[in-house]
Amino acid sequence: MRIRIVAIALACAAAAVSLTARADGDAAKGKVAAYTCIGCHGVPNYTNVYPTYRVPQLAGQHAAYILQALKEYKAGDRTHKTMHAQASSLSDQQMQDIAAYFESLGNAPATAQ
Ligand code: HEC
Repeated sequence: MRIRIVAIALACAAAAVSLTARADGDAAKGKVAAYTCIGCHGVPNYTNVYPTYRVPQLAGQHAAYILQALKEYKAGDRTHKTMHAQASSLSDQQMQDIAAYFESLGNAPATAQ
């Protein structure tokens, strides 16, 4: 009986680990997938490549925020033609990878010296 409980506990732990692994994106893959995003979102120089309108900075943004935003653009809950088109071409896994990549860039807050 005790062995069975231990086995169940181990199985749960293994499941939890694999779930976490899937929730976390792969920043290295995200870097590749984010290639097209960078033209507009201006990483790594934090400047906008597009001069015609402001583009939010994604470097250092929380992965959960980026993931949520991309899902909303894809679903049409957030309306923006360009971002809808961008997000629509991404799988959930790609979104997670991209989100992990942008978060991994970290934020270098502009602090007064
Ligand atoms: C053609 C320019 C362009 C490209 C390419 C582009 N974006 Fe965007 N993105 C924008 C603009 C403009 C906004 C602001 C839209 C709005 O006001 O909702 C935005 C918004 C976002 C937001 C929400 C940011 C926030 O602060 O709420 C995320 C996340 C995002 N983009 C991710 C991506 C990803 C990931 C890619 C690549 C797959 C990508 N973008 C490609 C122009 C672009």
